[in-house]
Formats: sequence, structure tokens, C-alpha cells
Amino acid sequence: MTTTRRRLLETMRVAVRRRFSLDASAPLVRTRAYVDGRWVRAPDDFPVLDPGAGTEIARVADCGPEEAKRAVDAAHEAFRQWKDVTAKERSAVLRKWANLMDEHKEDLARIITLESGKPVKESLGEVSYSASFLDWFSEEARRVYGDVVPSPFANRKILLLKQPVGVASIITPWNFPSAMITRKAGAALAAGCAVVVKPAEDTPLSALALAELSHQAGVPAGVFNVVPCSRERTPSVGRVLCTDPLVAKISFTGSTATGKVLLKMAADTVKKVSMELGGHAPFIVFDSADVDEAVRGAMASKFRNSGQTCVCSNRFLVQSSVYDSFLAKLGAAMDRELKVGHGSKPDSTQGPLINGRAAEKVVHQVEDALSRGARLLRGGRRLGGSFVAPTLLADVSVDMLCMREETFGPLVPVVRFETEQEALAIANSSRVGLAGYFYSSDVSQIWRVAEALEVGLVGVNEGLVSTAEASFGGVKESGLGVEGSKYGVDEYLHLKYVCMGGLAG
Ligand code: SIN
Repeated sequence: MTTTRRRLLETMRVAVRRRFSLDASAPLVRTRAYVDGRWVRAPDDFPVLDPGAGTEIARVADCGPEEAKRAVDAAHEAFRQWKDVTAKERSAVLRKWANLMDEHKEDLARIITLESGKPVKESLGEVSYSASFLDWFSEEARRVYGDVVPSPFANRKILLLKQPVGVASIITPWNFPSAMITRKAGAALAAGCAVVVKPAEDTPLSALALAELSHQAGVPAGVFNVVPCSRERTPSVGRVLCTDPLVAKISFTGSTATGKVLLKMAADTVKKVSMELGGHAPFIVFDSADVDEAVRGAMASKFRNSGQTCVCSNRFLVQSSVYDSFLAKLGAAMDRELKVGHGSKPDSTQGPLINGRAAEKVVHQVEDALSRGARLLRGGRRLGGSFVAPTLLADVSVDMLCMREETFGPLVPVVRFETEQEALAIANSSRVGLAGYFYSSDVSQIWRVAEALEVGLVGVNEGLVSTAEASFGGVKESGLGVEGSKYGVDEYLHLKYVCMGGLAG
């Protein structure tokens, strides 16, 4: 390690010790599992690291299959009562939970930053994004209507009832340690389901803090359970959560590769599934675009969470006539707006990547691109720990690794194109299709391209589109089902047709 890198790491460690310790969030720091309304031990524990400093910040219960099974059983038992609690009461509990998150936003944000590395301003944003799902689904809980269908028979009535599916296993990633849980659990609890959450091994503390607040909000014992576990125990815990016959539903956010494994496990007992998997978002700038707006959108879309979101722009396609000005303006915006540093520092905008492997992946993609003729305009190297310099590459071609696989890091690879047809062909050449963005001021083109992009979310002249009110879900190998929006609750319901016959005509 170079002296500069060593100094950077040491500065970060000192910053953490001085201003930003986990103790300061003690009221919400929990390190045991949360099962059936109780904090329970596991035979072992595992370390949680601050990815910005490389230091251990806590040790958390390392649950195994026994704890997972106990949580499933507890959820199954609790479901019997929770499904019959009135929608109005379920709504009130979810609303209270959301309000408590707001009251504790500073503590929750500190925990997110410490375990995921996210800059604290973004962590605060995640807390309010996360609470917005509880708030939204507290409202949706009261709007789960069935149907009375006009019957073709005079002596029968046709009713379609919506009923909760039962126990849902919720398996969540580290990049949004709080919001990915509430986006699922909010919908599940609104529907009347009980859940078992398995948070990512890197970020269990946010999940456990949510459990504490769920308790304070009055979520009954067994309705919301959290079973953290280490990377080593993840397969055995995952197996229980995806194969136990008492589990009716699996909702997973993570990589496409893992999603496929879980889908196979779900098949044996025919569980309902929602899968929010990988993306490889195109970001297209057409020649009629407002280039300044496109640069603003690119900055927001690419550098959110240091490039570690499934909807981050991953492939930048820029039409010839605006190619040079886009590159110049984007480079200038990167110099002006991005500051790499520990997430606890108020002026940091780019925290570390989650671990060294993630940083290595970005550097590998950069090296591959340079070896095939790309031009390095900014960054291109690892800075120390898992920090990576925000990187801008020009003259990128579609055969390069960064155009073929998701980066999940602060890399902007820019490809030049000539025609709309060519841009769409590149954009749609991927096997995944989560988000896509484009900038244009041509109304006809806007309709054509919005309809033609093979993705589940489109940003037209907008780089940040996620919100609780809208649907979130991909096509192709990006997943199954949607979260958020009025449709999110349906993922936790089944339709029951009740035919009332023998009625007097
Ligand atoms: C994700 O990266 O999976 C979620 C991103 C978002 O909700 O905007």
C-alpha cells in the first residue's frame, strides 16, 4: 500500500472514532436476532465492518437454520391473528412505524453510513425513502378491494376476494439496508402477511434497528422477524426461508445469479415470488437533448451511492453531435461536485464501495476498456481500502467488459452513436432490463424510445425516478413482479373466487 493510501485510510479511521461512533446510536443498536418479538441469541456471532475504515463496528448474532425455522414458525403463528386485524389498525401501526423512523432519522442514518459506507447525506435520504414505503403502504392497506363481478347466472353471485398469502421471506441487499426492507415489509404487512427478514451479511444493523422501531410501533410479536447471518451461514438460512412449506412467498433483491438459485428453490413448494435483480441501465443522450440537463441527470443517476444501485446508469450512449460537449461538461461536473471520503464527513459525496472485491471489479473493467482502446478522462484507479476514484472513459465500444456486465461502482463509460436505431439496438442488447434513461426534446422520439426500451423503469429527461408511488421492477432477467405503487401489495395477496349459488332469482 502506498503512503498516500495509508494516510487516507488512517484519516478515515480517526474521523470515525472522533465523530461518528456506533455508541452514539445506542438506542437503536441491536445485535441479537429478533424472533417472535424477542431479542434472541444465536450460537455464534459475526463481525460487521465499516467499509470506509475497514474496522469492526459490531458483532451480530449469526443465525443458522434452527433460528430461521423458529422465525418462520413464529411468523406463521402470528399470521393467524395479523390477517384478521382490521386494515385500519394495520394502517395505523405502519404509520406509527414510519413516524418513529422520522423521529430517529439521525440515528438510523448513522447506522446506514457506518455499515454500508454511504455518505451521511445520502443515508438521511435513504431513511426518508425507507419511511416513505411504510407511509405509502399504510395508506394502501385500506384500499385492498376485491370485486363483485356481474354474473352470467341469475341465481349466482361472483365475488373475488383478496387475501394475504401467509408468511413472506424477505431477503435484502446491503446497498439500501433500510429501504429495501420497508419496500417489501410495508407491502406485506399492509396485505396482512407476516415476514421473516434475512438482511445482507454486511448490513444487519439497519434491519435490527427497524425491528426495534417495529416493536415500539406496536407490530405484534412474530409479524416482523429478523434473522441476521454471516456469509458462511447464508446458504443454510436461505434454504429454510426458500423451502419451508410454511413460507408462502419469497421477495428478494440482489443479483440475477442468486435470484435464479432462489427461484429454483422456490419451485419445489410452488411459492409466490418477487425478484428485483440486476440491471445494466442505458443512459442515452440524443442530439436534441439539453446537454446541461443530461449532465445533471447523469451525475444523479450514476453517482448515487457511489454507483452501487441496480438502477444506476451503466452504459452511456451519446449521439455524435453532442458527444464532445457532453464529455467536457460531465468531466467538469465530476471535478466540481464529487468528493471522495468517509461517509461520516459531511462533504463526502462518494463513499467506499462495499468491499475490496467490488473495488477490484471496477478497476478490472477500466483496465479491460483501456486495453481495448478506451480513453481515460478522469480517475481510473483504486484510492485505498475500497475507495475508487470516479472514472470517466471515452471512446468505449460495445465489446468492452463494462458494456457487457453491471459495474456497481463509479464508472462512466461513454459510447458514441449515430442513429436512434443504433442506440436502441445497443440499449436493448442486454439480457437484463431494469432501468433506462434518455434525454431528448423531440416529442415523437420521446414516445418512440420510451416504448421501445426493454426495461421496467424509464427516466425521460430525468436521472432519478424511484419513489414509493411508482412501480419498481424489471423485465427480462432483471426480475419478476413489482414493488412500490398501488401494485406492490398485490405481490402479497392471492385472489379467491367465491361463487355464491342457489340464490332465488
Ligand atoms: C436498488 O438498487 O435495488 C434500489 C434502487 C432504488 O430503489 O432506487
